[in-house]
Amino acid sequence: MSDKIAYARHGEVAVLTVQNPPVNALSQAVRQGLWDMMDRAEADIGVRAVLIVGEGRAFFAGADITEFGKPPLQPHLPDLINRIEASPLLVVASMHGVSLGGGLEVALGCHYRIAVPSARVGLPEVHLGLLPGAGGTQRLPRLSGVEPALEVMTTGRHVGAKEAHDLGIIDVIQEGDPAENGLAYAQKLLAKDAPRRPVSGMPAPAPIDWDATFEATLARSKGQISPAWCVRAVQASVEKLFAEGLKAERQIFYDLMQTDQREGMIHAFFSERQVSNLPELKGVATRGVNAIGVIGGGTMGAGIATAALLSGLPVTMLDMTAEAGMAARKRIEGNLSGALKRGKISAEDHENILTKALSITTSYDDLSEVDLVIEAVFEDMDVKKKVFAELDRVCRPGAILASNTSYLDINEISATTKRPKDVIGLHFFSPAHVMKLLEIVVAEKTELDVVATSFELGKRLGKISVRAGVCDGFIGNRILSTYRTAADHMILDGASPYEIDTALERFGFAMGPFAVADLAGLDIGWAVRKRKRAEGLDPRARDASYADKLCEAGHFGQKTGKGYYDYAAGAKARVPNPDVMPLIEAERAAHGITPRAFTGDEIVRRYMAAMVNEAAKVVGEGIARRPLDVDMTLIFGYGFPRYRGGPLKWADMQGLGGLLDDIKSYAQTDPYFWTAAPLLEQLVAENRTFDDLNKKG
Ligand code: 3HC
Repeated sequence: MSDKIAYARHGEVAVLTVQNPPVNALSQAVRQGLWDMMDRAEADIGVRAVLIVGEGRAFFAGADITEFGKPPLQPHLPDLINRIEASPLLVVASMHGVSLGGGLEVALGCHYRIAVPSARVGLPEVHLGLLPGAGGTQRLPRLSGVEPALEVMTTGRHVGAKEAHDLGIIDVIQEGDPAENGLAYAQKLLAKDAPRRPVSGMPAPAPIDWDATFEATLARSKGQISPAWCVRAVQASVEKLFAEGLKAERQIFYDLMQTDQREGMIHAFFSERQVSNLPELKGVATRGVNAIGVIGGGTMGAGIATAALLSGLPVTMLDMTAEAGMAARKRIEGNLSGALKRGKISAEDHENILTKALSITTSYDDLSEVDLVIEAVFEDMDVKKKVFAELDRVCRPGAILASNTSYLDINEISATTKRPKDVIGLHFFSPAHVMKLLEIVVAEKTELDVVATSFELGKRLGKISVRAGVCDGFIGNRILSTYRTAADHMILDGASPYEIDTALERFGFAMGPFAVADLAGLDIGWAVRKRKRAEGLDPRARDASYADKLCEAGHFGQKTGKGYYDYAAGAKARVPNPDVMPLIEAERAAHGITPRAFTGDEIVRRYMAAMVNEAAKVVGEGIARRPLDVDMTLIFGYGFPRYRGGPLKWADMQGLGGLLDDIKSYAQTDPYFWTAAPLLEQLVAENRTFDDLNKKG
């Protein structure tokens, strides 16, 4: 008997209903249950067909990811699927919700497939550092041909029912209840004596240029290897007998299972879901947010307003003057027309948002009714304090007052109001309607329901929300400032910005730090450096000023056409700005530094050591609750390669002892910068990992 699979007999059809909420993952118990119920159906006199259908939200979301990295448990999924396909009975899958990975592979092992119109299918294993390992790479090409199959599995995208029908994956699309549809379909097939139709028996598809496709896929995947290995597995489907092709697929699947990329991506998968799961928020009633205000219509404010409008919230945008308000409206319109072009909103939504949901004002009094206000004005404490004084004056009691500051002390901002319990940091990343990260910065006096409401808002806006404590730069910018400093030190000592960018882009970052600085605007870093110098730098700190000279010459990066790079031929065709190296060389000479060569490996090692060390301080001080909070911040806000799992997961996989040794060796020449994080020393001494701290919840 199985408590995961219900067995029911409807005339000549045995119906196997999968009951493994929330998403019918194919755990060992489900696989065993399906195996046993197939046995039962075959032994059940008079049964001629089997219908497999899922209860709840999905057909199957795939293999049970929690079992990965542990010894595989029998029955193995490929064996189960072969067993289903080889059954003498006619086997039908009725699909609804998602059929992903092993879930779609089960369906492909059935002889016929019916689905409701809202069903989606896909082979998203590459997002876990894997490839379809239960026959997907062998069966799908036999149905759809090689190129569509490769497109589906190398992107891991969800395919809608209609497209899946066109690709030959789904035989029939029908509105209605999946169990009833499936039963009627199975009965119809029996009535017309439809034959069993194993995909494994279908002819192999036509070949393509495998080596060229492998190389092109590898190049596109920016260091991630599993998409390219899909090509080799599909090649086996064309060149080998079915059983041999399955073996080849399985071997690649097992090889990928042993990789750090698989471990990193599965860490990212679960962390992405755990990051906004905070025990103290369980059961806390949230304050309703039905209308918001945004102050400051620059790039950031307009992006925040756009994100809110796209989520269906009405927005009142306040700027200083009518002209500034007009400019803000233009920016928002630009963002929204992008969303319209990409099909994210309909023409009607677009019209409604602009005519009804967005209002522009210059008067604070117009914010008296909103439930939450986000301030996105100039990064200056006095300016922010003036804004909060106004908000304190006009906002209704209980309204949430949020600052989008990226560095400033939210405790100090909140102390200027009569309601510090209602004040919180909501730190978006530019462009705010695109970037997924939201740092929710909890100040000393912020009330729990304000935190809970902010997480709820983050979810509504489609963000990955991370809780952060107050410090200079919170989680992300504090760590960024440290690894950027490490990069500046390498430049003083002999590396060029271009060597550093190349090394880090090879490591997997979307962009190297100097290309990122050009994109963000060099004036931002310049302002931070000026502020820090005004506050007083520690005399032991090494200070690099070559970047200031670039700014003084009016080079702010992409927006002025030149920064570290020259963008005359467009953002993608960047070339080094010839003015940069002379500035660096002059500074080295002024410090009496004889430049030395850096290898790409050394650049990555130092940069990552600085990142991990600061991240360990951020966790040790409680600014980030758990290492996974840092990992998600860096992946979703700073272009850290997802397949490496985040800096602290990466550190675990490298070995913390080796990293600490590196830090101590770097400290011999610069003990001030390379002070080892107490948490890192503690973990090494106790032979533990950062991930051990994640497990504590
Ligand atoms: N295994 C184990 N748990 C899973 C799971 C899976 N395949 N898919 C989802 N879950 C869990 C989630 O971790 C989450 O748990 P939590 O509530 O404790 O946080 C819960 O199910 C609900 O998931 P979501 O919060 O993500 O719910 P959504 O409705 O937003 O999304 C989904 C549902 C689209 C199914 C999404 O969860 C998803 O994309 N899952 C992964 C699908 C996937 O990658 N499948 C391939 C697996 S690998 C494979 O099949 C190998 C084979 O080829 C051999």
